Amino acid sequence: MLGIHMNHTNNDERMDRLPAELATKPFRFYFRRDPKTFGLGVGALFFTNLLDTLTPLAMGLAIDMIRAKNLDGLARSIAAYCALMVGVAFFRYSWRIYFGHFHQAVANDLRNRIFVKLTTLGPSFYQKNPIGKLMSLITNDVNSFRMAIGPGTLVLLDAAFLTLMILPVMLTISVDWTWKTMILLPFVPFLMQRMEKLVHERYRIAQDKLADVSAQSQEIISGIRVIKSYAQESNKRAAFNQISRSYEHAQNRVSNVDSGFEPLMDFAVAAGGAVLLWVCSSDVVRGSITLGEFFMFYQYINKMIWPMSAIGIGLSMVQQGRASFDRVHEVLRTETDIPDEGNVNLTGFESLEIRGLTYQYPAGHAPVLHDIHVTVRAGETIGIVGPVGAGKSTLMQLICRLYPVESGKILVNGHSLETIRLASLRQTVSFVTQDAFLFSDTIAQNVALGLDEFPGAEAVRDVTRAVNIDQEIETLPERFDAYLGERGVNLSGGQKQRLTIARALIRKAPVIILDDSLSAVDGNTEKAIVGALRDALSSRESRRQTTFLVSHRLATLKHADRIVVLSEGRVEAIGPHEHVLSLSPTYRRLHQLQSEEKLSAGFAAAVPEAEAE
Ligand SMILES: Nc1ncnc2c1ncn2[C@@H]1O[C@H](COP(=O)(O)OP(=O)(O)O)[C@@H](O)[C@H]1O
Ligand SMILES: [Mg+2]
Repeated sequence: MLGIHMNHTNNDERMDRLPAELATKPFRFYFRRDPKTFGLGVGALFFTNLLDTLTPLAMGLAIDMIRAKNLDGLARSIAAYCALMVGVAFFRYSWRIYFGHFHQAVANDLRNRIFVKLTTLGPSFYQKNPIGKLMSLITNDVNSFRMAIGPGTLVLLDAAFLTLMILPVMLTISVDWTWKTMILLPFVPFLMQRMEKLVHERYRIAQDKLADVSAQSQEIISGIRVIKSYAQESNKRAAFNQISRSYEHAQNRVSNVDSGFEPLMDFAVAAGGAVLLWVCSSDVVRGSITLGEFFMFYQYINKMIWPMSAIGIGLSMVQQGRASFDRVHEVLRTETDIPDEGNVNLTGFESLEIRGLTYQYPAGHAPVLHDIHVTVRAGETIGIVGPVGAGKSTLMQLICRLYPVESGKILVNGHSLETIRLASLRQTVSFVTQDAFLFSDTIAQNVALGLDEFPGAEAVRDVTRAVNIDQEIETLPERFDAYLGERGVNLSGGQKQRLTIARALIRKAPVIILDDSLSAVDGNTEKAIVGALRDALSSRESRRQTTFLVSHRLATLKHADRIVVLSEGRVEAIGPHEHVLSLSPTYRRLHQLQSEEKLSAGFAAAVPEAEAE
């Protein structure tokens, strides 16, 4: 109806760049971004104020006509009054719409900028910034900036317009009355600003407490089985009760201040009226001023209370918005440590070469990988083994360029990782991470996650068959359309792992990395899956798949072409099973340990290992 055209940009690359003006003058940036909507809002606000200022005049004139017992012009006066009211209603509605759309679009833009930035940042960023902080950035801080650029700016403009319009009218009626009644008003903005600031501080505390309540209840509900088995219900109840109480308390502290605004404004209006009666009624009796003018003046005093309060409220909102924007800016200006600046597009996979790789985590004290040299040719199956903390996952993550390589080199097909387009690298290497993460979506959608288009039910079934989970899915009532997570099916750890492998397989990438991805399935299933993988993958394309298999089960690795034994961040040996068995003490120890386990398992009448949850 009002012809609003919003400019929604969703271009990721553009959103990832931080415009200089946004960084330094965020308010100006957004005012200029959509000047039409903003300008129309300001215009409508101006006319609302103008007409609003004129209404007491029309009413005052009418009153004087009544007192003069001359009603000739009364109809015209009432008509003017009504016309003004209609105009005020129309323009007030318009500015609400324009401003509303304007600041919601600003919030949308800022939210998306943060989100795009978050998706470009690597894991090292997330280690330094807790999830709660980032969530609060997207919700609280964006909102607080929105309130500043929308309602905050509006309130300040409103105050400025009204003051500039009302004050001259008041002065025309009586300079003497004006200063006598207005003398108290300058305290109002100051008081309001203090109150608004206090409300905001207390509100943030209340928000934090609310976050505690939801985090606690979520944890208690998810952990209900553990709580019950350890009979911790009453302890948890008491703990929850305490957190809930403290939220109640925080909310009350907000109301204690918040409830003061209206009474305070009412009081100021009443005080203004009392002062007016006290100092001015004698002028009316003397006849130097008409009753109509007295009435106008009274109305203008009422109307001045708001702009005075508004200055305080608006200033405080703008301050909070600035503080929030500073926090947002902190993230927006963060440069990713894995910039996508390469331009090499890989066509298939020929070789991977790791040369003199030494790696230390940004947060770490010492290198976790030392001088690694490994070369892998297309089609090889490489087993990677070593004790917990040896650096296996780190090495795999570096191959996928989740962290930057600072010392040494990793080359794919002879190209250093930084020179390869990230999308191309990701298409070439499918990485199944150690923690099996599934989204709250259907099984089929989870498996097809890495594909641009849904590949069809048959393709999904094929890969689930390859990882030995198809039959378990068939027993679910909704089968491949079964929902996972919160409101759906809960899977065991082993089932999750197998689905994440299926997710990697369906992409048919030339290289696949399984980082301990079968740790929660039993040994026989693991062997079966690895065998099936080899067959399925080698038959699918003329060129064989290259596989990195991180596992602690030597039985599975035995058939790898070569095994890399890692120990304390160093390569202890590389080669086929027999070779590393003779060379690596770590491997020998693991081998011995697992042979003994197998023996004792044999005594226990070959009870199959239960799937870990
Ligand atoms: N994000 C991280 N920041 C700092 N240190 C880490 C991080 N991830 C792992 N480490 C450390 O690096 C070492 C190797 O870890 P990891 O590669 O996960 O070993 P593995 O997969 O062989 O069990 C360990 O000492 C671990 O504590
Ligand atoms: Mg690991």
